Amino acid sequence: MSLLIAKQISKTYTASSWFQSKKKEHSAITNVSFVVESGMCLGILGESGAGKSTLGKIALGLLPPDQGSISFQGEDLYRVNRHKRKQLRRDLQVVFQDCYSAVNPRMTVKQIIEEPLRNFRRLSVSDENRTVANLLETVGLTINDMNKLPNQLSGGQLQRVNIARAIALEPKLIVLDEPVSSLDLIIQKQILDHLKELKEKIGLSYLFISHDIAAVEVISDRIAILDKGEIVETLDTSNMYACTHPASQKIIRSSL
Ligand SMILES: Nc1ncnc2c1ncn2[C@@H]1O[C@H](COP(=O)(O)OP(=O)(O)O)[C@@H](O)[C@H]1O
Ligand SMILES: [Mg+2]
Repeated sequence: MSLLIAKQISKTYTASSWFQSKKKEHSAITNVSFVVESGMCLGILGESGAGKSTLGKIALGLLPPDQGSISFQGEDLYRVNRHKRKQLRRDLQVVFQDCYSAVNPRMTVKQIIEEPLRNFRRLSVSDENRTVANLLETVGLTINDMNKLPNQLSGGQLQRVNIARAIALEPKLIVLDEPVSSLDLIIQKQILDHLKELKEKIGLSYLFISHDIAAVEVISDRIAILDKGEIVETLDTSNMYACTHPASQKIIRSSL
């Protein structure tokens, strides 16, 4: 089943500056279509500036495209009413690259993970504590970490907290925008393995955005190559070295 369907998305940024009377337009995404199948991971691979984060924000319902549509679980993300949108957002979560700016530095690990639970579910205090403890265990942390503040954690640990928060409401899809790019290689591998395990265990689907072919390869079932705002090729990961477009060859073969 197709969970997320992007159809012919385009997005242009308009920059105005005080010394230019004419507004400058920059086309970030051009006519992009893709599908994330239920239980699968689609990797979006592209160099810096290719338009990956723009596409991620559009897919999350945070940035309306100029053209095209995004449907999630059969509903158009930009056409539904606010109530329905809130419901859909529960099933559609995000993890960004910069784990420190994604959290309130004054909140404890427990408070960070509890926040979505409090917004969407009414749990007793004991159920809430148990749920947070389970989530920490799921992402490889322990209850000893519950009362720590973000600055008492390493980047890898804090990114695990962000993942715990993202999975707290048992979403269907997580958009991961360069989730391991700022971490060292060993921690990257651990977190990717963990995400992969979660995908299998709880049937999650991912849109995994990265410039790093090694990371994309580990976790994705299919890979779409984004070059200068356009998807130039989409391949099964197992078949990725058979890519034919020069931009795909450049980025995929750079790993060889
Ligand atoms: N808010 C914005 N206003 C104007 N231009 C932007 C904005 N965000 C991104 N861009 C431009 O759009 C292009 C794509 O950016 P982005 O989606 O962040 O790419 P990536 O995540 O692949 O590095 C870049 O040229 C970038 O400078
Ligand atoms: Mg980006």
